[in-house]
Amino acid sequence: MAVISFDADHRTWVLTGESSTYALRLDEDDVPVHVYWGPKLTPSEIGELTPKTRPWWDGFNDPNEGLGELAADGGTRYWPPALQVRFGDGTRALEWRYETHEITGEHLVIGFTDRHYPLRIALHYRLRSDVVERWTELTADTDVEVVRADSATWVLPTFEDYRLSHVTGRWAAETQLRRTTAPHGETVFASRRGITSHHANPWVMVDDGTATERHGEVYGVALAWSGSWRLTTTRSSTGRLTVSGGFGQDGVVHHVGPGKPLTTPVLAGLYTGGGFGAASRAWHAYALAHVLAHPAELRPVLYNSWEATGFDVSEAGQRALAERAAALGVELFVMDDGWFGARTGDHAGLGDWHVNRERFPDGLKPLVAAVHGLGMQFGLWVEPEMVNPDSDLYRAHPDWVLHHPHRRRSELRHQLVLNFARPDVAAWAHGWLDRLVGEHGVDFLKWDMNRPFSEAGWPGEADPDRLWVDHTRAVYALLDRLRADHPGLRIEACSGGGGRIDFGVLARADQVWPSDNTDTLDRLRIQHGYGQVYPASAMSAWVTDDPNFVTARATPLRFRFHVAMAGVLGLGGRIVDWPDEDLALAREAIALYRDIRPVVQHGALYRLRAPADDGVTALQYVHGDRVVVFAYRQAAHFNAPERPLRLDGLDPAHRYVDSGTGTTHSAAVLLAHGLPLGLPTGDFASKVVRLHRKI
Ligand code: DGJ
Repeated sequence: MAVISFDADHRTWVLTGESSTYALRLDEDDVPVHVYWGPKLTPSEIGELTPKTRPWWDGFNDPNEGLGELAADGGTRYWPPALQVRFGDGTRALEWRYETHEITGEHLVIGFTDRHYPLRIALHYRLRSDVVERWTELTADTDVEVVRADSATWVLPTFEDYRLSHVTGRWAAETQLRRTTAPHGETVFASRRGITSHHANPWVMVDDGTATERHGEVYGVALAWSGSWRLTTTRSSTGRLTVSGGFGQDGVVHHVGPGKPLTTPVLAGLYTGGGFGAASRAWHAYALAHVLAHPAELRPVLYNSWEATGFDVSEAGQRALAERAAALGVELFVMDDGWFGARTGDHAGLGDWHVNRERFPDGLKPLVAAVHGLGMQFGLWVEPEMVNPDSDLYRAHPDWVLHHPHRRRSELRHQLVLNFARPDVAAWAHGWLDRLVGEHGVDFLKWDMNRPFSEAGWPGEADPDRLWVDHTRAVYALLDRLRADHPGLRIEACSGGGGRIDFGVLARADQVWPSDNTDTLDRLRIQHGYGQVYPASAMSAWVTDDPNFVTARATPLRFRFHVAMAGVLGLGGRIVDWPDEDLALAREAIALYRDIRPVVQHGALYRLRAPADDGVTALQYVHGDRVVVFAYRQAAHFNAPERPLRLDGLDPAHRYVDSGTGTTHSAAVLLAHGLPLGLPTGDFASKVVRLHRKI
C-alpha cells in the first residue's frame, strides 16, 4: 500500500511505495530539495536525514547544489536549469515561496509562487506502487516566458560511480541497448523531431556500475511524451548525479499567462533492488496497471498486408489474403497503406482520405463484411498527420502544413506535416476518422507517422512555438476522443516502425510497431531494448517472408515464428504464396501462440540470456502456474556443449511438468542447475518450452 505523509516539523514529505521510499523537503528559503530515494524507510527514519546545519559551502557553490527537486534558474543555483522563466520586465531568476500542499490519496501537490511575480508553480507527485509519477504545472496572472519547463529533476544517491543504460537507434534498427559509465558534466538524450524518435527513447536507467540482470539497485526515469523531449544527466565533481527532463527543445519558448497554463507530461521514476530484470518487470507492471487502457485483454493475432502488397492494393488481393489468414487462425486482418485517394505509391494521395474507387469499386464495406464474415476483426492503416503535396488536400490548404514564410518546405518521403495545433486541421482529421471508423465498423487503426517535423512555423499565429507541444496534445486528444466515441476501437501506434514509442502514446494505443525490420536476429536485439521498459503485451511482432526484405537474410520459418511469439504475434508476408508445409507450420505455431499468449502478454519477463552473436538467447515468461521459455541459437558450433538453461522467478518448492514431453522438473533444479534445452541441430535452432506447475 502506497502512502504519502507530511512531517511538519521537518517540512518533509515522505512517499512510501511498496518497497521503496521517496522524500523531499523545503529548505529555510522555501526551495524544494531532495532528501531520499531508495529502499523503503519509515517517515521517522527519514526524519533522521534532515540536515541539522547548513552544509559546508565552498563559496563557489550553492549549499543545495544538485539537490533541487526542480532545479530552477536563479540565485546561486548553477545546476542545469529544469525551470527557466523570464518575467515581463526581463527578470530571469525564480525565487520560491511555499504556499500550500494537498495530499489526496496517492497524489501530492505542493504549491509555490514566485516571491514577487504572479507565477504559480505546482509540483505533482503520484505514487503508483514503486513508480513515482511527477509533473509540473505553471500558471500566471501576467505573461511569463518559459524557456524551459522540465517535468521533474530526479536526484540520485551518491554512488562511487554511475552507469547509464539507455537506447539509441535509427530507422529499422531501433532500441539498441547501451550501457556506459556516466560522463562527468551534462549528457543530453533528446529528440528535436516533433516525435519520440527512432534515435533515442525517453528513458534512462542509472546504477552504480555493478548491477546485473538479477542483482543490484537500479534507478529508472521515463517520460510519457510523444513529441520533442530532453533528458539531461548531470554528474558533478561533488559526486552527485541528477536526471532532469521533460518536453521541449532548446530555442522553443512556452508562454504562460492568463488562461494559458502549462502542464508538463509525466516523468516517472522507479527504484528497484533486483537488477535490470526486476526494473523491467516493475516498468511492465506499471504499464499494465496504470498506462494501457485495456490491459486485461489479450491482443489478437493479426495479419498486416504491407509486406505482401506494398502499394499494390486491390479488393481481390486483400480478400485472398484475408481468406488465407483466417484459415491460419488469424484474428485481426489489417489493410495497410494504398487503399485511398491517389495513393498508388508514396508520392501522392496522403490527405485524401476517401476510398480509391478504382481499387474498391463498391467502397470498403464489401471487404469489411468479408473479413468480419471470416470471423476476423478489420483494421485499417491511416496517417492522419501527413499530406503529400500531390494531393487535393494540399492543393486546397497549402497553409495547413508546418512552414515558415520564405523558407522551402522540406519533403521527406514526399510528404509534409499537417499542423495539428490548428483547430481547423484537428477538426478536419476528427471528422473523416470518426466517419471512417463509424460507417465501416473499423475495429482497429494502425496510426502511422512517417516523417519528423521541419520548418516548424505557423505564420499568422502570435505564439507559433506552441505547435511543438500542441501538435502532440491534439494527436492525443483526437485519439482519446475516437476511443471514447468508439469503445471497441483498438489502436496500433507506428512511426515508420518505432519512431513513436513512449508511455504517452501507450496510454492511447493498445500496441506499437517497434520496427520495420522483421529480420529475426535484428529483432532479437530490438525486442531486447524495447523490453527494458515497455511490455510484451504492446509489442507487435510479425512473421514475414524469406529472405527478409530489409536485411535479405534467410531464416527458418519456425525460428521466425518463435521470435515473433515473444510479443504480440502477427503475420506480414505473401501468405497466398506460401507452400503447404509452411502453411501447416504457421497453423500449428499460431495455435501454440494462442495457447501461450496469456503467459507472454500478461506474465513477468525474465531475460535469461541476452542476444549474443554465437550463443543462445533465452527469455522466460511466468504467469500464475504457467511458464513459457523461448530459446534461440543463431549458429551451431561443432562439438560445442549445450549448457542447461537456468530459469528464474520460480518457487523452488514447486514442481513443473513440460507440456511437450511430459517430463517433471523440480523448480529447485531448474533454478540451480537448469533446463536441458535439447535444441535441434544446425543454425537458427529454436524452441518454445511450456511448463505447468504441478498441483
Ligand atoms: C511505415 C510503417 O512502419 C509500415 O509498416 C507501413 O505501414 C508503411 N509505413 C506504409 O506506408
